Amino acid sequence: GAIERAFPDLPNQQAVVAPTGNPKIADYQCNNAMIISGRLPQPPKEKPAPAENGQEKPKLSKAEQKKLKAAEQEARNKLQNKVAQQIIDALPESLPMIAGRPATAGGAFINMRVDTAWMGQVVQSMLVEGIDKWAPRLPHKRAVIDFSSPNVAKEMHVGHLRSTILGDTLARTLEYCGLEVVRLNHVGDWGTQFGMLIQYIAESRPGGINDTNIEHEDLGQLQALYKKSKERFDADPEFKERAKAAVGRLQGGDAECLQAWQRICKASRQAFQAVYDRLGVKLEERGESFYNPFLASLVEELAGQGIIEDSNGAKVVWVEGQENPLIVQKADGAFLYGTTDLAAIRHRLQTEKGDWLIYVTDLGQAGHFDLVFGSAKKAGFILPKDDPGHPRIDHVGFGLVLGADGKRIRTRSGGDNVRLSELLDEAKERCQTTIKDRREDIGEEELDMASSAMGYGAIKYADLKNHRTTNYKFDFDAMCDLKGNTAVYLLYAHARIASIVRKADRPEVSDGSLAKSASIDLEHPAEVALALHLIRFPEALEDMLEDLTPNRLTEYLYILSDKFNTFYTNCHVIGEAQEDSRLLLVQSVAVVMRQCFHLLGLTPLYRI
Ligand code: ARG
Repeated sequence: GAIERAFPDLPNQQAVVAPTGNPKIADYQCNNAMIISGRLPQPPKEKPAPAENGQEKPKLSKAEQKKLKAAEQEARNKLQNKVAQQIIDALPESLPMIAGRPATAGGAFINMRVDTAWMGQVVQSMLVEGIDKWAPRLPHKRAVIDFSSPNVAKEMHVGHLRSTILGDTLARTLEYCGLEVVRLNHVGDWGTQFGMLIQYIAESRPGGINDTNIEHEDLGQLQALYKKSKERFDADPEFKERAKAAVGRLQGGDAECLQAWQRICKASRQAFQAVYDRLGVKLEERGESFYNPFLASLVEELAGQGIIEDSNGAKVVWVEGQENPLIVQKADGAFLYGTTDLAAIRHRLQTEKGDWLIYVTDLGQAGHFDLVFGSAKKAGFILPKDDPGHPRIDHVGFGLVLGADGKRIRTRSGGDNVRLSELLDEAKERCQTTIKDRREDIGEEELDMASSAMGYGAIKYADLKNHRTTNYKFDFDAMCDLKGNTAVYLLYAHARIASIVRKADRPEVSDGSLAKSASIDLEHPAEVALALHLIRFPEALEDMLEDLTPNRLTEYLYILSDKFNTFYTNCHVIGEAQEDSRLLLVQSVAVVMRQCFHLLGLTPLYRI
């Protein structure tokens, strides 16, 4: 794919992509040299003669071993060189994107010098035609992404924050690739805990079970309510019985219980929404309760298929290769988290018509999803690999978020649980200071906008830049740093480009006509390096999509900003003979930066 995009008009692509594997373009020594690497054939290894009559084969001396190795290496080089030469010979006489002729470079390498005029045209086309078509094409049509998914009456914790940030980026990226994306918030809004909560409200509130104030409580108050009811539940067996009875009434559709449950959900929903609004994340709530009506029939159906087994009265599904089964119904008749997920996977495939399902949760749930996916396969919800309707299903697991000291993360208010809203507040405040230091005259409204963009962006970026499976430290000092791999640094780089364009004060730049009339001439090595990195944008997306790892995209963006800064230190723009060309170049950089920002959920700033 990368090769195809880099060489769109190549008449005989097969010739270049002849080696197997997935060739990648890579920088190579000189700025505008590229190598295409792939796996070239290896000469057959000479088999040592079998030892005769059990006799020990004579050992080679060190020098002889060395000689043998060198000979092997030479044979390999020769063969690879031959293939490389064949590839070169198969190339057409002239290739617009390559300056001069490609040449073998020893072993499995072919050197090609990218034609800078061609590269300038590609960069310019980003301005004239936009970069929508740079998105990788994927075989899927409709992705269903399950992310964020906090639990009602509990604080949304940093794990949910990480899921929200990662899921949002994946959703944005797949959308950019042309897929329809359904963003599902699988809120934990159903289960036995609600009997306990409702019963506690009924017994402790002045308004009893009908207390409408619940609706207006914040997450801290709800969490406290949860804690108290749980304490009571554990300490008082009679309360426990009454709570169980309340679950029964709730599941039986008792109006008062349902209303109390809805009030708790509503209060939580408002608190969650406040976080989503600040982060600019959109989600469709489809909590566990949504699937409740399907559970009983689902279990019956599985039983009918003969894949349910009994385990001490509980109903379970065994999945090959797994140590434990998936419990779908407890001995007391209750359904579980996994039953709901089984109903949900079926709904997402059959009703929602997703052909790519993604679940973004902490790595701790990997085993759970193995069981759910395995059971769904066994039940026939997931069509087999050789069926054209076979979906792609991914559990996108992630590591822990730790405090700066490497221990549990805490906020200023202390307490058991870190409040997400406080994390957001602090990041924003810190960025406010940074911005004010540099622009004392900034107005209230702009300051608020810019510090939100920077502060929330800093949190998101600090998360996304880590490989998702690693644990990382949540460190305000590091993430709000002006220098280094931070959102703040990147947003400043973008604002610098905006300021160059503003200073140029040329209407042809803003109305796009310059991009159609002037051309980009890449002369200075820093310009060439910048342009070369710019056109590798699709490769970064491909890398990210391979393992659903947004850190591949942040890496690309960081290097882009870095190459821009090197360019800017070395090349003046305004008032130079190259002004037109350089204005176009930096505009293209800004276009790609903004696309990356968009995918990462960052809001670009134009003046800071
Ligand atoms: N509510 C769960 C939790 O907080 C996450 C749900 C993830 N999605 C799912 N379909 N199981 O851990």
